[in-house]
Amino acid sequence: KKRAPLPDDIRAAKGGTPLVSLTAYTTPMAQMMDAHCDFVLVGDSVGMVLHGLPSTLGVTMEMMIMHGQAVARGLRQAMMVIDMPFGSYEENPAQAFRNAARLMAETGAGAVKLEGGVDMADTIAFLVARGIPVMAHIGLTPQSVNTLGGYKVQGRGDARAALVADAQAVSDAGAFAVVLEKIPATLADEVTAMIPIPTIGIGASPGCDGQILVVDDMLGLFTAFKAKFVKRYAQLGDDGEAAIAAYAAEVRARTFPAAAHIFADELPQ
Ligand code: KIV
Ligand code: NA
Repeated sequence: KKRAPLPDDIRAAKGGTPLVSLTAYTTPMAQMMDAHCDFVLVGDSVGMVLHGLPSTLGVTMEMMIMHGQAVARGLRQAMMVIDMPFGSYEENPAQAFRNAARLMAETGAGAVKLEGGVDMADTIAFLVARGIPVMAHIGLTPQSVNTLGGYKVQGRGDARAALVADAQAVSDAGAFAVVLEKIPATLADEVTAMIPIPTIGIGASPGCDGQILVVDDMLGLFTAFKAKFVKRYAQLGDDGEAAIAAYAAEVRARTFPAAAHIFADELPQ
């Protein structure tokens, strides 16, 4: 890859090789995934996986900007998308523009993501008309956990038509892609066939135009709970704890530091 993809490149990937994406919050994680991902999301999940918050509602603009700047330093090839945190865009389109512009200007992100369908369509259109590429996010929208009544599967039964309407609305409003979170696979497939922009699944369907996971989930670093849609590709949390236990034992046994880690009085002859 010569340059990072632009939102239009992501849009053009509709129906092709699935788009690959992960979240990142720090420079080393961004560096680890840069060559393998089409885009990297600075997700507001940072509040839960790095800061120990009980939900994403406490995430601030300042947290997003600090983590966005760290991720930007680790990316050369992948596009960076940044989440708008709870409370930074819902009041009206002008508030959304002001905060989206700040996120992009201060982090260098190429696009923002916000949660909501029909209700956010006017805001998405307002941002896109003013130069801000928007990725939408519908289905389970964690910032609405208190009105959704938990982290339940969305779009089942009677709620199916509303999810379809949300997908159509964000597409019509000019979003360049849409995240579908925790909805039935047949519904994800139906939406993917219906709208002209890529669908990015998380707990959706392998038929989506792309997939995303929270990197700390897929590496086994975040272990407070595991959603059904998470696949752990590594157990870095367990590996890390084992390493720390080994260090603790060696320190207490005075076997660390060893000869290789300490210094002589004089340079060797
Ligand atoms: O914040 C996040 O990590 C997200 C992804 C799960 C899509 O929004
Ligand atoms: Na998010």
